[in-house]
Amino acid sequence: MRIGQRLAVIACALLAAAGRPVPNRSDIAQLGEAIYLHGVLPGGAPLEGTQSRMGIHQHGADAACVNCHQRSGLGSHEGASAIPPVTSEYLFHPRLPEAHDGPAAIANPHRPRAAYNDETLARAIRSGIDSEGRPLNDLMPRFDLDDASIAAVVAYLRELASHRSPGVTEAALHFATIVTPDADPVARRGMLDVLERYVTQHNSAPLKPSPSSWAAGRQVGATGAGVANRHWQLHLWELSGAPETWRAQLERQFAAQPVFALLSGLGTAQWAPVQGFCEQHAVPCFFPNVEVPIAGEQDFYSVYFSEGVLLEAQLIARAIASGDADSGASTVRQVYRRGDSGEAAAAVLTTALQGRNFGVTNDALPAEGAIRSLNDALARGHSAEILVLWLRPHDLAALARHDAPPPGRLYLSGIMSGLENAPLPPSWRANAALSYPFELPQRRGVQLDYARGWLSFNHIPVVDLQVQADTYLACTLLSDALKLMADHASGAYLIEQLQGLLEHRSLTGYYPHLALATHQHFASKGGYIVRFDTPQGTSVVANSPWTVP
Ligand code: HEC
Repeated sequence: MRIGQRLAVIACALLAAAGRPVPNRSDIAQLGEAIYLHGVLPGGAPLEGTQSRMGIHQHGADAACVNCHQRSGLGSHEGASAIPPVTSEYLFHPRLPEAHDGPAAIANPHRPRAAYNDETLARAIRSGIDSEGRPLNDLMPRFDLDDASIAAVVAYLRELASHRSPGVTEAALHFATIVTPDADPVARRGMLDVLERYVTQHNSAPLKPSPSSWAAGRQVGATGAGVANRHWQLHLWELSGAPETWRAQLERQFAAQPVFALLSGLGTAQWAPVQGFCEQHAVPCFFPNVEVPIAGEQDFYSVYFSEGVLLEAQLIARAIASGDADSGASTVRQVYRRGDSGEAAAAVLTTALQGRNFGVTNDALPAEGAIRSLNDALARGHSAEILVLWLRPHDLAALARHDAPPPGRLYLSGIMSGLENAPLPPSWRANAALSYPFELPQRRGVQLDYARGWLSFNHIPVVDLQVQADTYLACTLLSDALKLMADHASGAYLIEQLQGLLEHRSLTGYYPHLALATHQHFASKGGYIVRFDTPQGTSVVANSPWTVP
C-alpha cells in the first residue's frame, strides 16, 4: 500500500472513531483544501506554522499555504524570493537543472531535486526537508501536523493540477458569455459585436512563439502551444425565466460544453446565480457588465470593473453625510422600482446613513407600469429635503414632463439614468447631482481613444460606448493575462496573472486606474459626484475629487 493510501486509511479510521461518516478520497482532499486555503485543520483547530530560525509563528488563515503558494498552487515568481509551485505535476516529478529558454518570469529559480512521494512530501511539510534530504529555505514554515491532517494535505496536492481545467483542449480555449433575460437588448448587441469581432481577430492572428515554463516539455510533457496561442471558442449562454432557475440552466450548459472562463457578459440587478456557479466550478467570471455585483468574502473567481450601483450608493451617502449635512438637511427619500438594481442600492445607502442623524424613507414603485408623477407614484406625499432617484431614463423623462423640479437636493444614479445623457430638462438640472463611478468625459481621452479607434476600425456601431469599451477592455485583459500563463491553463492562475498585470495598465478605458489585490473583486474603487454644467447638453463637472468611499 502506498503511503498516501495508508495515511488516507488512518484518516478514515480516526474520523470513524470520532463518530463521523467515513469520507471518500475526494472528501479527504476537501479536508486538505480547508488546510491549504483557510488554515483550518480537519478537527476545526487552526493550522500552526513556524518559520524555524526566524522563530515566527503563524496561526490559522495567516499560516495557510495559499498565502505563499497561491490558489492555483503555481506559486509566485518574483526574483530570489520565488515561491515554488506545489501542483501535482511539479511535486511528483523531478526538477531538472534550470531551463534557460523560458522567459525570466517563469524560469525555475529553484534547485534541481528528485520527485516527491507521499512520504518525502509529508517530511517536507512537517520538517522542511526536501526530496533530496536537504533543508528547505526558512521562508517555508514547518507544520507540526498529525497523520490525518498530513493525509488530507497530500491528497489535496495530488489533486491540485494546473492542467485539468474545464473547457481546455490541446488547440482551443472555450469561453462563454452570459446574457440575462432582463439585459438591455441594445447593449446586448453592442457587447456581442465586440466579443465576436475580438475573438475572430484573436483566432486569425499569427501564432506567437510560445513561452515554455521550466516544467513544460522537458520535464512534465508539454501540452503543445502555450495557452495564449490557442483558438478561442466563444459560446453564448442566454438565460431565460426567473433568476431561481438560472443556476440549473447554467449547470446544464456547462455539462454540455465545459468552459474555461466566462468572458464579459450582460445583466442588470441579478447576477448572484452566475457568481455562485463560477465559484462552485472554479470558473473565472471575467468582468461582466452588471449593475449589482455581489462578491462574498470567500469568493475568488469573480472580477468586476466596479461595484456598480452599490458603489454609487456609497458615493451618494458620502456626499449627503458631508455636504448636505452642512446645509442642515436631515431627511432623505429614495425611489426605486421593485426588483430593479436600485432596490439593492437603496438598501446600501440606507445602511450607510445609519447613525448619522438622517431620516431615510424608501419608496418602492411597482416593477412595471408607467408612472405619471412623483405625487401619484408615492403613497405618502410628504416631502424630504433630499431626493435620491434610482430610476431609468424613461421614468425620469416621464417625471420631468409632469412634475415641477423637486424643491431640495436631487441625486440620481449615473449608471441607471444614462450618465451625462440622463434625460433631465433644464429646470431639473439646477439642484441635480449624479453619482459617476467612471473617469470624467473630458479626462477619458487617451485611455478610451484606443477602444474607440478599435470600434471604428472594425466598423462596429457604437450603441452603448461604456458597455462596449468595458467589453473590449475585458478582452484585452484576458489576452494579456493568458500571455503570462505559459502552458498553465488554470482558472485560478488566470486571476492571479490578472492581479499582477492590472497595476501596470495604462489603457484603462472608462476608469482612471485599475488594481486588484488578493481578495479584491472590484478593479476600480471610486467615483465622482457630478452636476450638469449647462442647462442643455451633456457637459458635466465634478462636485468633488475622485473619491474612494
Ligand atoms: C510563508 C510562505 C509559505 C507558506 C505559508 C507555505 N510555504 Fe511551502 N514553501 C515556501 C517557500 C519559500 C518554499 C521554497 C523553499 C526552498 O526552495 O528552499 C516552499 C516549499 C514548499 C514545498 C517544497 C517544494 C519543492 O519543490 O521542493 C512544499 C511541498 C511546500 N512548500 C508545501 C507547503 C504546504 C503544504 C503549505 C501549507 C501547509 C505551505 N507550503 C505553506 C513558502 C511557504
